[in-house]
Amino acid sequence: MSVTTGDFRSKVTALSLLEKKQRHEPITCLTAYDYPTARLVDEAGIDMILVGDSLGMVVLGYENTLPVTMQEMLHHTRAVRRAVKHAFLVADMPFASYHVGTRDTLRNAARFVKEAGAEAVKLEGGEKRSRIVERLVDAEIPVVGHIGLTPQSLHAMGGYKVQGKTLNAVEQLMRDAIALERAGACCIVLEGIPREVAAMITRELEVPTIGIGAGPECDGQVLVFHDLLGLTFSPAAKFVRRYADVGATISGAVLAYKEDVKSGAFPSEAESYHLPKDTQAALADIAERKHALR
Ligand code: KIV
Repeated sequence: MSVTTGDFRSKVTALSLLEKKQRHEPITCLTAYDYPTARLVDEAGIDMILVGDSLGMVVLGYENTLPVTMQEMLHHTRAVRRAVKHAFLVADMPFASYHVGTRDTLRNAARFVKEAGAEAVKLEGGEKRSRIVERLVDAEIPVVGHIGLTPQSLHAMGGYKVQGKTLNAVEQLMRDAIALERAGACCIVLEGIPREVAAMITRELEVPTIGIGAGPECDGQVLVFHDLLGLTFSPAAKFVRRYADVGATISGAVLAYKEDVKSGAFPSEAESYHLPKDTQAALADIAERKHALR
């Protein structure tokens, strides 16, 4: 088996992400949930693509990430897999898919690799998840950790709140990060924590940190694709930077289409197919003869 083709060399892997950290080269990450957007993100040269369980909210219209199922995550990961050639592809394990005992967790995680083509799975939680992370890594399944504001802990946290604001909480976050690194996590998402805490954790760890609402000192940054494009319906969090208003572009295009159909401006002559000239003439002939017989 050849591993030195042109394409393979540009493939981002867990190892190349680690090397980026060592070279102090920022890591770029975005979420994607379907073929066309994953293809655009991949072709733009983003390092890591996460099929996040945020899909529940931004694509499926759920209120939070808790109802997202294994089936939904596998379905969307497969679509993204078909598009991605370059980026490191990570799939989120949905709520309650890794809280179910070692055997079932291993089986669920393996499905992402075997059936959907993910290169790593991401799961939320720190110290208390370190044993399961160790087991997954031992089973050759790379794991991305996720600590701080962990949306699947919505009810336990009492809402989406910035985490790590007291000394005790900072110490716990540091323990969480170290436990995940020791367990073999290949990188760790830091979400919704003070910049100073994210910077400390990033300095302490050898593996890369990927921040979202965690300040600029992380080794990389991730945003939800729909947030970046203005394709969401609720107010954006403070850390979101909108690079486009695609929602307004889509609305404008749909309204213009509706008006064109109603006014008869669509479709035009140029947008219509035509019969070949001889068939047209034969049809006219038949119509004329029918008319003459009446
Ligand atoms: O589900 C998701 O999109 C995530 C990122 C925000 C890190 O977990």
